[in-house]
Amino acid sequence: MLTTLAVENYRSLRDLVLPLSGLTVVTGPNGSGKSSLYRALRLLADASRNGAVAALAREGGLPSTLWAGPENGVRRGTSRVEGKVHSKAVGLRLGFAGDEFGYALDLGFPVPGRTAFNLDPEFKREVVWSGPALRPSALLADRAGPVVRTRVSSGAWGDDRFKIRMTDSMLSEFADPRACPELLVLRERIRSWRFYDHFRTDADAPARQSRIGTRTPVLAHDGADLAAALQTIIEVGRAADLAEVVDAAFPGSAVEVREQDGLLSVELRQHGLLRPLSAAELSDGTLRFLLWVAALLTPRPPELLVLNEPETSLHPDLLPALATLIATAAKETQLVVVSHARPLIAALAAITDVGTVELEKEYGETKVAGQGRLDRPPWGWPSR
Ligand SMILES: Nc1ncnc2c1ncn2[C@@H]1O[C@H](COP(=O)(O)OP(=O)(O)OP(=O)(O)O)[C@@H](O)[C@H]1O
Ligand SMILES: [Mg+2]
Repeated sequence: MLTTLAVENYRSLRDLVLPLSGLTVVTGPNGSGKSSLYRALRLLADASRNGAVAALAREGGLPSTLWAGPENGVRRGTSRVEGKVHSKAVGLRLGFAGDEFGYALDLGFPVPGRTAFNLDPEFKREVVWSGPALRPSALLADRAGPVVRTRVSSGAWGDDRFKIRMTDSMLSEFADPRACPELLVLRERIRSWRFYDHFRTDADAPARQSRIGTRTPVLAHDGADLAAALQTIIEVGRAADLAEVVDAAFPGSAVEVREQDGLLSVELRQHGLLRPLSAAELSDGTLRFLLWVAALLTPRPPELLVLNEPETSLHPDLLPALATLIATAAKETQLVVVSHARPLIAALAAITDVGTVELEKEYGETKVAGQGRLDRPPWGWPSR
């Protein structure tokens, strides 16, 4: 389980260290940094697939994602922000620690003059350690610039130095299982992290179309394989769970998956109607709820499941059923839920243990509300 998440210089997250629980709810007012936190987690996951540099480019490149305020934040009582923006080499740093492993990356600008791609971020430092805290003696793999070194089983550093490109992550590009098996384990774990964010439910939404179905233990991000995912849930023996949650959300209704000429489609039988409604006929909120059902009853729970504002476009009456679904999923997987729906958070807290992290913005910078020095989980970044 991950116990700590740390972010530095990513948008409004100048210096944030958060505790994570089995089920963490991240909340806060508009503009407090919730979506930035969600994106920071995605960026960490992207690094394991070597997609972090491309993901940053899509967000406008490193310069626009870096914290836009002064280096040390704005001091209380300062009315005007002035002075040098950054004196030290700035980096976007992301990391997490867990019971078994920790990982941190530090992305920065290339040395001027060496390349025309001056805005492409480079990995300046990347480290993997064992145990809950970064200590020099706990390092398993250590990348400084283009050079990776790994610890051998005796505990000493191996003699081999491996070179990788500055724009590649050690997690994805350094894959010698003999040199550092833990790196591969960690990579596969991060690759299993799953993110869901705003399913489309418009008239042309992929989830409304019939599709050829194959066994689908993991719902796609766009929900295109909804029917196959629901049928997989039924066939792995969770039909009763599915029926229960659908009945709790829409009393008297039942979901069915219809197969015709190899094409699968979702249907909802509703009280008072003579025929079931097809996915194309369902309301946005109903379809979205079914998408969350398919995502959360997954027969293959990931290491970490991150949901961004699952309450979007759901009627408040559905939130208790959504909370039950989330609480059920949290028994099998670690969950981070970004939400500003108080009824959802209250419903969750009433049925299960929730770690709530409330974000607030102070002088442009995201802070954890009420977090004193001593409440902040211990965290240290590797130096450049
Ligand atoms: N490079 C940057 N430096 C500093 N702050 C930034 C930067 N980029 C964006 N921001 C600010 O970060 C804040 C947090 O945005 P974010 O989208 O994470 O908020 P949110 O909590 O998800 O809000 P909402 O509830 O409205 O979705 C915004 O106010 C935005 O203006
Ligand atoms: Mg947001």
